Amino acid sequence: MSDPQSLTHEAVAAIARAQTEDELAAIEFDYLRRKKGRISSLLEGIGGLPAEERARLGQAANEAKRAIEAALAAKRQEHKEALLADIAETEAIDITFPGRPLGRGHIHVLTQVQRQIESVLESLGYKVELGPEVETEWYNFEALNIPPGHPARENWDSFYFTPDLLLRAHTSPVQIRAMQRIKEPPIYIITPGRCYRRDPPEATRIPYFTQVEGLAVDRGLTVGDMKGTLLYMMQSLYGDDRKVRVRPSYFPFTEPSFEFDVSCGFCAGAGCKSCRHKGWLEVGGCGMVHPQVLRNGGIDPERWNGYAWGFGIERMAMAKHDVEDIRLFYESDLRFLEQF
Ligand code: DAH
Repeated sequence: MSDPQSLTHEAVAAIARAQTEDELAAIEFDYLRRKKGRISSLLEGIGGLPAEERARLGQAANEAKRAIEAALAAKRQEHKEALLADIAETEAIDITFPGRPLGRGHIHVLTQVQRQIESVLESLGYKVELGPEVETEWYNFEALNIPPGHPARENWDSFYFTPDLLLRAHTSPVQIRAMQRIKEPPIYIITPGRCYRRDPPEATRIPYFTQVEGLAVDRGLTVGDMKGTLLYMMQSLYGDDRKVRVRPSYFPFTEPSFEFDVSCGFCAGAGCKSCRHKGWLEVGGCGMVHPQVLRNGGIDPERWNGYAWGFGIERMAMAKHDVEDIRLFYESDLRFLEQF
């Protein structure tokens, strides 16, 4: 029969050699199981021994058990650390490895249309001029010949911060700012930008939208120059088969004033669902700049005259792509946006 000490040595040596948890479990089972384990077997027949001997053997068996348990625990910890080190080495993130590519976005359809308009007019010598979206009452209305109480103010009902400060209702105030900044004609500018109106959202209007305004100030300009410019712009954007017409209208800042339309691209003017059977799509307003507006911009109307126009980019994009609801442009739904 083996004694506790040599059994302990034997077990600790086996534990030291063990490579796997399975081997350790086998050793544990072999030495430490309650029934017929090699340590518990030491105590078989202990009842027949003298009391003193019994106590000594019991204590020795206990020490052997604790020593083997400690050796097992230490070896298991060693295995665990080796495993972690191994994972760290083999599964560490390789920062030089190329990442998973993100889906590529593209320019929003409204920005695309805005840039097209800009480049067409830049090819005619117009410069892009920007103005503030928070505007004073004077620039937004008064300087454009729309005094307090003028009924036309109702067409441009906006959001007010104070009685004097509002979100601009159109890009027309930039006409005044451009004249004041440039001072000496000739002036040829376009001014794209966000505008705001107190309109409940629906299929054809929303409280925020984008306009492009054009302004030409020079000597002896005519309605013919204006119409030619609008025609060139529309044909460059939509194709040479398009026509432009102007209809008499009223704006306080132009005299005479017009609405301008482009022939429908779906039915070539015959009338269809897209143009509501009119053959024409309304684009925006235009006219010869009112002399008082020139004066408000610091330009002498005796020496210079001008024409101007303004229209909504959303409407242009709707006409171009046959979009039925203006709200789609702002819903950020990729199923819609990916089509352009
Ligand atoms: N500002 C006008 C609007 O928002 C559009 C407009 C009409 C602009 C005639 C012009 C113009 O420059 O001449 O409804």
